[in-house]
Amino acid sequence: MKYGYFDDTAREYVITRPDTPYPWINYLGCEDFYGLFSNTSGGYAFYRDARMLRLTRYRYNNVPTDGGGRYFYLRDGGDIWTPSWMPMKSELDRYECRHGMGYSMISSAKNGLAYQQTSFVPMGDTCEIHKLVLTNESDAAKDIDIFSFVEFCLWNANDDMTNFQRNFSIGEVEVEGSRIYHKTEYRERRNHYAVWAVNTTVAGFDTDRQTFLGLYNGFDHPETVFAGSANNSIASGWAPVGSHHIKAKLAPGESKEYVFVLGYCENPDGQKWESLGVINKAPANALLEKYATSEAVDKALENLQAYWSGLLGKFTVEAEDKAMARMAGVWNQYQCMVTFNMSRSASYFESGIGRGMGFRDSNQDLLGFVHLVPERARARILDIAATQFPDGSAYHQYQPLTKRGNNEVGSGFNDDPLWLILGVAAYIKETGDYGILDEMVPFDNNEELADTLFVHLQRSFNHPLEKTGPHGLPLIGRADWNDCLNLNCFSATPGESFQTTANFESGVAESVLIAAIFAFVGPDYAEICRRTGRKEEADRADKAIAGMIETVKKHGWDGDWFLRAYDAYGKKIGSHECEDGKIFIESNGFAVMAGIGLDDGRAKKALDAVKEHLDTPYGIVLQQPAYKEYHLELGEISSYPPGYKENAGIFCHNNPWVTIAETMLGRGDRAFDTYRKICPTYREDDSLLRRTEPYVYAQMVAGKDAVRHGEAKNSWLTGTAAWTFVSISQYILGIRPAYDGLVVDPCVPSDMKSFVVTRHFRGADYRISVDNSAGVEKGIKSITLDGKPLSGQVLPVLGDGRVHEVVVVMGR
Ligand code: BGC
Ligand code: NOJ
Repeated sequence: MKYGYFDDTAREYVITRPDTPYPWINYLGCEDFYGLFSNTSGGYAFYRDARMLRLTRYRYNNVPTDGGGRYFYLRDGGDIWTPSWMPMKSELDRYECRHGMGYSMISSAKNGLAYQQTSFVPMGDTCEIHKLVLTNESDAAKDIDIFSFVEFCLWNANDDMTNFQRNFSIGEVEVEGSRIYHKTEYRERRNHYAVWAVNTTVAGFDTDRQTFLGLYNGFDHPETVFAGSANNSIASGWAPVGSHHIKAKLAPGESKEYVFVLGYCENPDGQKWESLGVINKAPANALLEKYATSEAVDKALENLQAYWSGLLGKFTVEAEDKAMARMAGVWNQYQCMVTFNMSRSASYFESGIGRGMGFRDSNQDLLGFVHLVPERARARILDIAATQFPDGSAYHQYQPLTKRGNNEVGSGFNDDPLWLILGVAAYIKETGDYGILDEMVPFDNNEELADTLFVHLQRSFNHPLEKTGPHGLPLIGRADWNDCLNLNCFSATPGESFQTTANFESGVAESVLIAAIFAFVGPDYAEICRRTGRKEEADRADKAIAGMIETVKKHGWDGDWFLRAYDAYGKKIGSHECEDGKIFIESNGFAVMAGIGLDDGRAKKALDAVKEHLDTPYGIVLQQPAYKEYHLELGEISSYPPGYKENAGIFCHNNPWVTIAETMLGRGDRAFDTYRKICPTYREDDSLLRRTEPYVYAQMVAGKDAVRHGEAKNSWLTGTAAWTFVSISQYILGIRPAYDGLVVDPCVPSDMKSFVVTRHFRGADYRISVDNSAGVEKGIKSITLDGKPLSGQVLPVLGDGRVHEVVVVMGR
């Protein structure tokens, strides 16, 4: 069952009925101000940090779902409705929601009154804009009442939903004409306030929630709207809200436009007040003046669209397979930008208060956006590296506002250091900027401990070598990529964190995955050394990598596939000897990606075993058999019911590792099959089961052991975005940035007969047309660059700001 369609020309997903199987959201904002925006206008806004500077309140886990948003109520005589469907679940004569690149539009109609809401965050400003257009499509004049509604959050979202003894007494607002200011805590330590304004005169307003709604009413039955006029209430404590009452007279055929702005404003210390208790409104005035007219708003939307066209122009795809082309060329990259901005903080599955920027996650996210905004990737790398400890390990996450590492999920995840090498290598391959290696970067956010970024990489490289276990494999520490394989935790106390509790420091539990990641990223470290005149260090690195590969072959191989780990007793995990958890996806995908076993048949064996034991119609599950019981010595992985999350769910993040691994074997059909299964677009018709948005990847799809096999959860904020983009763009379509240029090395399904990729790379554009009329999976017969034959498969760096034509003929 479908709930909409892709409008590829407009780069929009068009939702055609409001009752989607889960709220289908979009992200407004790509700089400092953000809004989560669902297809029924639900969601919330925040400035920079979803926990500390939340502008509006949102109720996770609410019934009905999606509680809170920017709501508009319309009243036409006795008829009252919400044109975005929620919160009143109004019956509408028409409804459509278009989610585009950084903006959303909801259009609907009822009673001969057409409604259009365009919502976005303009570039360069800290506000959400909601432009409303009402059109009288009937042949009689209409007297319409419009009531707006937002509910303010008292800034700290965590405190806001826990500390009621204080919060019920601190709410404060100011109202001036059609501008409602939320200024809770401004009298003391805050220098910021929110404004909710409309560019017309109002008949009245409300700022006290109880007055507006009625104490025992929900958003679906605001007393004030039913009574037909506002009360001009001024909130004092309790729950401050912002509601305007506008009266609109519409002749037949007439349209009226309104611009609503929800803004965040700051004043420097010393300029906070206009007079005693009256806030300085200068920044709000400036902001609102800018967006006082529909024309200015339309222009700002055009700017935003131009920004996205520019970004998405850096990598485009044309192919017969429209689903693949739109995902790789548009939506996948869009999602990568969102994960860059949000990390794992705010989505409809991440509450915005829990998780900061992950060390591991942010490095991997980089792979998906470094080609779009390389300067921001550079800054991000330096921020991440500054949270590394002098011994190469790292805080597992850091706080976006302060950029300081924090201990909320502790440290000692022994895979963390290696992802920094991956991120930096990706950045250098994209930009050729070796200068980043000489940047002085603090350790542990302490300037006194600063050293060059190169030294950070060196410590990253050394970390797994210095911390090895009985088999010579890297110790796992708190966990590796799989946060739920907690081999030193031994938690028997409910509520204890699996990631930070360590009741049992074995000094023994080892990870084959970390060894494989080391073998994958190590060669980049060696190459960087070589290219920066550090030959001896490069040789040392090569030796260490070769040694690690030997160790994996010796102690990390189970006969038909790669082992996953050794537990705190030195027992195998991911072996045919185990009762449950005999085979895992991660170590197999990564070992083959690293090239281990390509020379001796193990790689092929491992991937065939993955296919045989782990593959399903919806993707590859994380391991099999699922753990049926809780294992003290394994931790969180065995805490999940079989088929969900890390316990044999289809944890999409690691599926592209297998896709890439398949391309190493030249198996394009298999690689694409793996790609396709987790790609949401191909499951658009199956939305009732899948539930989450057909335009973005989800972190997890329920595995074959689960009752709801095929159902997706945790859409948007997942490493799946970056890795699938790498798998499709660099390994299937095969356009891969490298130190000396752009490698062309497609590995496609044999029935993919042609495709065109345009790629911006180091100051020039390459238009690459690939002809696979030969119907092969891999192999290149010829390449021409601007009409001249090219020897080898590397397009040189041209950097001349021009477009270069590349023709690639595949064949044996
Ligand atoms: C989840 C993991 C996640 C971890 C973060 C666990 O509950 O299953 O996917 O990475 O929490 O702390
Ligand atoms: C989600 C986390 O964000 C990511 O870092 C981790 O690798 C996966 N879960 C697997 O546990």
